Amino acid sequence: MNNKANWIEEAWQQVVTKIDRTSYSIGASFPNGSRDGRYTKSPAHDWVSGFWPGLLWLVYQETQNERLKDLAVQCEREISQSLWEFDSLHHDVGFMFGLSSINQYKLLQDEEAKRHGLMAASLLAGRFNPAGGFIRAWPNWGGEDHSGWAIIDCMMNLPLLYWASREIADPRYRLIAEIHADTVLREFVLADGSVHHIVCFDPETGERITAIAGQGYAADSAWSRGAAWALYGFALSFAYTGKVTYLLAAKKVARFFLDHLPADFVPYWDFRLPAEDEGMPRDSSAAAIAASGLLELASLLPEADGREYKRSAESILRSLYENYTARESDDEGLLLHATGYFAEDIYVDTPLIFGDYYYVEALRKLKNNGRK
Ligand code: GLY
Repeated sequence: MNNKANWIEEAWQQVVTKIDRTSYSIGASFPNGSRDGRYTKSPAHDWVSGFWPGLLWLVYQETQNERLKDLAVQCEREISQSLWEFDSLHHDVGFMFGLSSINQYKLLQDEEAKRHGLMAASLLAGRFNPAGGFIRAWPNWGGEDHSGWAIIDCMMNLPLLYWASREIADPRYRLIAEIHADTVLREFVLADGSVHHIVCFDPETGERITAIAGQGYAADSAWSRGAAWALYGFALSFAYTGKVTYLLAAKKVARFFLDHLPADFVPYWDFRLPAEDEGMPRDSSAAAIAASGLLELASLLPEADGREYKRSAESILRSLYENYTARESDDEGLLLHATGYFAEDIYVDTPLIFGDYYYVEALRKLKNNGRK
């Protein structure tokens, strides 16, 4: 067995080699989930579009590979065009523009990319429902009325609002983010630290109507990726606001997540499946998101308090590297065995681009001792 430093370095080298190779086949496009070893592609307005440029930026920052930078810039150009589509957009502009435009602004001082980020933040703020104190997730896809729907994943979109407030020295965006986070804390997070995926409100009165299963097994189950989004999202809200309630929420969800992991530290796609132990797919993407969130959490705490979270993140990442990376296969994805949407049979037990992204993000934090 290799020592700790070696496995991290080896895992990182595997990432660099693989991304260098797949950047030729994927190019400036928007991979989503893998089928038969190749990533299917989504349009630029899809919620996943930021993950590939985001991944290219992560590797670029360590390698200075200009080809990766050029691909990321091409992706940003296309993603930013979706601002003018407007109707096809949704709350996940946080993922899309945070990982493309804002990275590009920070790394290349690109003022146009900054404006794209600010426009996306305004769109996200425009989804806020003041009666219910939540950000509406989606348009009425499939003819279903989503005007009162909020989803746990949105916790990861709030950093776009926090960033915008800082950039323009105006608290409006941050205040919307905080009201949404407070609503999520009250309405989504259960006493044991598990979370709902979707909560429906009356869009006129703001009254809570019900929680529904969404991508989880049932309304009262515990979708593992939802828990990972919540853990990481609350840690980020604490990082931006310093509000201790968000820190406590992140810790509570982290406890639930860690206490329900199987022996190899990679969760089943839901923590409350009827026959959890036999034959149900894992969700390696939930593990990768949680690992990165745990490292975020550790970085916000005094060293002794953060140690357990860092150790847990390391255990998850080591298991992902040793048991879940596509070493022997030539799959374009890095991380095998992720589950997109089990009930709809969409990308089950296969690589997902956001699993790859958070795996690389977390590994880089570990390699650089928390530096992002
Ligand atoms: N945000 C959608 C998902 O996690 O699948």
